[in-house]
Amino acid sequence: MDAGIAFETERLRLRQWREADDAPFAALNADAAVMRYFPAPLTRAESDAMADRCRSLIAAEGWGFWVAERKADGAFLGFVGLHKPSAALPFAPCVEIGWRLARHAWGSGYATEAARGALAYGFGRLGLDEIVSFTTLANARSRAVMERLGMREDAVGFEHPAVPPCHPLRPHCLYRLPRAAWQASGA
Ligand SMILES: CC(C)(COP(=O)(O)OP(=O)(O)OC[C@H]1O[C@@H](n2cnc3c(N)ncnc32)[C@H](O)[C@@H]1OP(=O)(O)O)[C@@H](O)C(=O)NCCC(=O)NCCS
Repeated sequence: MDAGIAFETERLRLRQWREADDAPFAALNADAAVMRYFPAPLTRAESDAMADRCRSLIAAEGWGFWVAERKADGAFLGFVGLHKPSAALPFAPCVEIGWRLARHAWGSGYATEAARGALAYGFGRLGLDEIVSFTTLANARSRAVMERLGMREDAVGFEHPAVPPCHPLRPHCLYRLPRAAWQASGA
């Protein structure tokens, strides 16, 4: 497969970031609907810095939060992929699966499709034993993706250390997918 392309799914290409992704990524990060479950939308500088971090981590590790691009027209949809969280999370060390798509790309199954490919990459190529995902309690769309992937919610959630105490977004749920459960699902 091409240097920058990690893998393809039926409708998507998951790849390394390019400079041309910065503008649509900034638009997505400035959209209040997309950023509803984050403390605040991102400024252009914050968005560019996040794209740079994603790009550097993929360059260093060979994997990360990849750009999800639609094969049919090359459109930038957002990111989906794997990441080692840097925050001091109570269940660290771990590898999380995460996603953030532009509003126009919701409701088409793209996040779940890309995430299935990312799970196969994580369990298959990286040989991970477990992949986790987490989000603030009210983020129903993100939780629905986790459930479609066969992830199971831990009985006890956690307070995200990067969100200020008493902030309504601080309580999080944690979903886990052990390698054996992924294999048993026949994915
Ligand atoms: C979380 C997020 C990626 C989920 O996106 P999504 O579009 O709801 O999820 P999917 O891509 O899996 O699409 C599923 C929907 O597409 C529909 N769909 C349409 N065509 C489909 C197809 N061909 N195949 C599968 N599903 C399809 C499904 O029925 C489902 O619809 P529903 O939500 O009405 O039940 C998106 O809401 C987002 O980017 N949110 C902002 C960022 C964020 O909160 N990230 C998570 C932080 S932890």
